[in-house]
Parts: sequence; C-alpha cells; structure tokens
Amino acid sequence: MNTSELVLEVEKVNKSFHDPVTIQVLKDVDMQVARGEFVSITGKSGCGKSTLLYILSTMDTDYEGELKIDGEPTRKASRTRLARIRNEKIGFVFQFHYLLTEFSVLHNVMLPGLKLGLKSREEVEHRAMVLLGDLGIADQALKGANQISGGQKQRVAIARSMINDPLIIMGDEPTGNLDSRNSGIVFDIFRKIADEHKRSLLIVTHDQDFAARTDRIIEMDDGRVVP
Ligand SMILES: Nc1ncnc2c1ncn2[C@@H]1O[C@H](COP(=O)(O)OP(=O)(O)OP(=O)(O)O)[C@@H](O)[C@H]1O
Ligand SMILES: [Mg+2]
Repeated sequence: MNTSELVLEVEKVNKSFHDPVTIQVLKDVDMQVARGEFVSITGKSGCGKSTLLYILSTMDTDYEGELKIDGEPTRKASRTRLARIRNEKIGFVFQFHYLLTEFSVLHNVMLPGLKLGLKSREEVEHRAMVLLGDLGIADQALKGANQISGGQKQRVAIARSMINDPLIIMGDEPTGNLDSRNSGIVFDIFRKIADEHKRSLLIVTHDQDFAARTDRIIEMDDGRVVP
C-alpha cells in the first residue's frame, strides 16, 4: 500500500469510559484505509464500533493513540483545525438520518456546504442538485425533509455527506433501517463513490451480505480489531 494514498491511519487507539466504573472499550486499535477503498466494520453489539467511529470522525478527542487523516496527525490539532478537517475531508451517514425537518430536502443537502463557506450559494445549490440527481431523488428536492420515505431520507443523508466532496465517508449502520431493496440502492451508490470518484468508505454494518460485498471487512471483538 502506498502510504501517500492512505486517507485514514489509526495507531494504537485506546479508549476508556469512566462512568460509573472504568471500562476500556477500545484496545490498541490499528487500522488503515486507502484512497478509493470501500471498507466495512462488523462485530457484536457493544464491541466498540460506534465509539471508534466517533473518534475517527474527530468528534471525540478523549482517547490515547494517533489518528491521521489524509496524512495529517490530528491528536494535537486545535479545535478549529479539527473542525476544518472534519468539514472538508469527512462525510457522515448515520442510521437515523438527522435531517432537519423544518427545511427542504435541497436545503438539508446544502447545509454543510454553506457552513464550509468555500463556494457560493449558487455553486453549492448546483452541486446539491447534481447529487440528488445521481441518487435518483432530484424530483424530491423542494419537499420538506419529513415528506419523503425512509429510503429517500437515507439517500438525502448520503447526498448531504457528499456535498463537500469528502475524502472519506463514514457511516454508522447507514442501511440499518432500510429494506433489502433500499439497502441495495445505498450499497450501489457507495460502490460508485469508491470506484468512480476514488473516495473511501468506512461503514459499520450488522448486515453480513452488505459487508461481504465490500473490498475488506474489519472485524471487531471486545474493543480489538480481530487480526
Ligand atoms: N458514554 C458512555 N459511557 C459509558 N460507557 C459507554 C458509553 N458509550 C458506550 N459505552 C459502552 O462502550 C461499549 C461500546 O459501545 P459502542 O456504542 O461503541 O458499541 P457498538 O459496537 O457500536 O454496539 P452496537 O452494535 O450495539 O451499536 C459498550 O459496552 C457500551 O456500553
Ligand atoms: Mg453502535
């Protein structure tokens, strides 16, 4: 693996929770994700997958070890720098989409782009419409975010995660509440993002069929990566 092509590098990450008693949830976690790679993370409930994703997304900084994103160490980065890395380089899709129901589908997709502030409103809107088109839901753009189906919401969340063209998209059970047809649609979208756009995907899933079709499965057990 060419190290300059590594989008994500995790080195000896350890994490404990201290409430009510101290339990170590992540134990010497090492992993790497290359550019354009579609990786899944599996493991039993409670083994630490969401905790790990929270750290990898730079939202949780209370851990030991090192996390490099696009070659840049984040351990000692300032909060502002971390926010910048997060907005520019990482996209997220969660099981429950967290769309803002008071806004339209289009506005939801545009929000992270407006927040990053690198492009004009018109450019962000144009890209949002292109993404909604790619995901087959351009016709839903002006609806309220609570006037569409669950599968459509999930696709809106994916479009939103892609608005700033992140290097890596992380998902915590993004197909967890979808039927197999919609889950298949989401899989195909992720595949295309990896193959055609050379973006990386790191997706936590309980769906063994989904995982089996990704490039690589990282299995976790009781806070460790199974070698
Ligand atoms: N804020 C917290 N305080 C204390 N313990 C926590 C906290 N969050 C998670 N844990 C514990 O850490 C362990 C790992 O939790 P985590 O949510 O990462 O599991 P998971 O692999 O994502 O599980 P699932 O597949 O059910 O989503 C669990 O034992 C959980 O009870
Ligand atoms: Mg979880």
